[in-house]
Amino acid sequence: MRTFIADHPLINHKMTALRDERTDSPTFRRLADELVTLLAYEATRDIAVTPVTIQTPVAAAQGVHLSAPTPVVIPILRAGLGMLEGMTRLMPTAEVGFLGMVRNEETLQPTTYADRIPGDLKGRQVFLLDPMLATGGSLVAAIDLMRERGASKITAVCLLAAPEGIKLLTDRFDGTDLDLTVVCANLDERLNENGYIVPGLGDAGDRLFGVV
Ligand code: PRP
Ligand code: URA
Repeated sequence: MRTFIADHPLINHKMTALRDERTDSPTFRRLADELVTLLAYEATRDIAVTPVTIQTPVAAAQGVHLSAPTPVVIPILRAGLGMLEGMTRLMPTAEVGFLGMVRNEETLQPTTYADRIPGDLKGRQVFLLDPMLATGGSLVAAIDLMRERGASKITAVCLLAAPEGIKLLTDRFDGTDLDLTVVCANLDERLNENGYIVPGLGDAGDRLFGVV
């Protein structure tokens, strides 16, 4: 597994505002959107392209187009929805699937409540969007599902990760044939006794969309 932690001054500036408990939902949504667009640059670094020749007003030029089949972008609901627009703005031709998962607040185990994902992901590059990689249970379950559908190249884009979540993904998928990359804005210190990232930003879904 490749892990990329951005730790870029502009990204850290926006993450600081995102983490701040005084930041309201409209601002939180705007910041999440801007952060994903910045992270998308790294997340798409090795996206498949096909050489093409085009004509500029001056001369013929060699360029590239995104290769077929188109990538699939999958936000993990709810909080991943706050990252969708920022990603598809850069890749408007990408297909979008939806995966609904919720973590039980006591057991910290995820359950899946919605699955609108293409049945066949063979040969498709998959971008999973979820702002929070905490225990890693949700992302492992999501990746297992993608692999069952034939995906072999997956990039997870997160805003915050805990070392515990990175370790779980490494333990589960290193040594398998999965080509997995995790792109994150910041890596935090640890999880607390309730499975929340410390210092973190609290409950990402609640901060984006309100308390359920
Ligand atoms: C949050 C978050 C991740 C998950 C991370 O979702 O968006 O999906 O928790 O935790 P884990 O790494 O320990 O599995 P939550 O279950 O709170 O649902 P929500 O997005 O609907 O708020
Ligand atoms: N889910 C969140 O929304 N926040 C955390 O800190 C951990 C899981």
